Amino acid sequence: MILECRNISKKYGSLEVLKDVSLTVAKGEIVSLVGPSGAGKSSLLHILGTLDKPDSGRVEIDGKNLLKMNEKRLADFRNRSIGFIFQFHHLLPEFTALENICVPAYIQGQSKIQAEAKAGKLLDLLKLSSRAHHKPSEMSGGEQQRVAVARALINDPLLVMADEPSGNLDTNNARDLHQLFFELRDTFQQTFVIVTHNEELAAMADRKVMMKDGRIV
Ligand SMILES: Nc1ncnc2c1ncn2[C@@H]1O[C@H](COP(=O)(O)OP(=O)(O)O)[C@@H](O)[C@H]1O
Ligand SMILES: [Mg+2]
Repeated sequence: MILECRNISKKYGSLEVLKDVSLTVAKGEIVSLVGPSGAGKSSLLHILGTLDKPDSGRVEIDGKNLLKMNEKRLADFRNRSIGFIFQFHHLLPEFTALENICVPAYIQGQSKIQAEAKAGKLLDLLKLSSRAHHKPSEMSGGEQQRVAVARALINDPLLVMADEPSGNLDTNNARDLHQLFFELRDTFQQTFVIVTHNEELAAMADRKVMMKDGRIV
């Protein structure tokens, strides 16, 4: 199992947002996480992605206990092992597509030559080569989101976590993005956990996990 979480609970004040949640994900699996707004999907994804900590329970990625790592090791692990894609692309507006994609590689300490070579391959793969030197404002919503996917992939993460990745796209661009996730899985055995309201994407996934009121149902 690439991801294993057991008995995760989380409260914000007196509000229990996650109640005894357990989930395992295998390498190369695409899991969709669905459920009504407020169910705890983003909270769970943040914990699985090491962006937040549970009050109790256990999270392991690739056999490593995340809750035992100090902040510095955790930040390094996150940078190397987890790719994030959000509803809004969160690209840096002053940087080009190529530069945005390289950021996580620079954080990892890769050289400009190394990072740009890998980013160039990803731009090719995601059919974005002609946009390499464009800034986010000069790209369509679908292109911006594909750049965000490339940025998530540049360090060859063990896991990609996506929170409503197509929530801001029209039907065709959403469909293309979803197709891309499956291509990446088929080509690289990339593993995805995707929170989505998109029924089509949820149904395409290998497994659809439904959350309600802080529990998996
Ligand atoms: N940082 C926070 N502080 C307080 N409450 C929060 C915080 N983050 C989320 N919540 C609450 O936790 C519940 C679950 O939120 P969330 O995980 O974002 O649900 P979902 O992604 O399924 O819509 C909601 O009631 C939300 O208001
Ligand atoms: Mg959410």
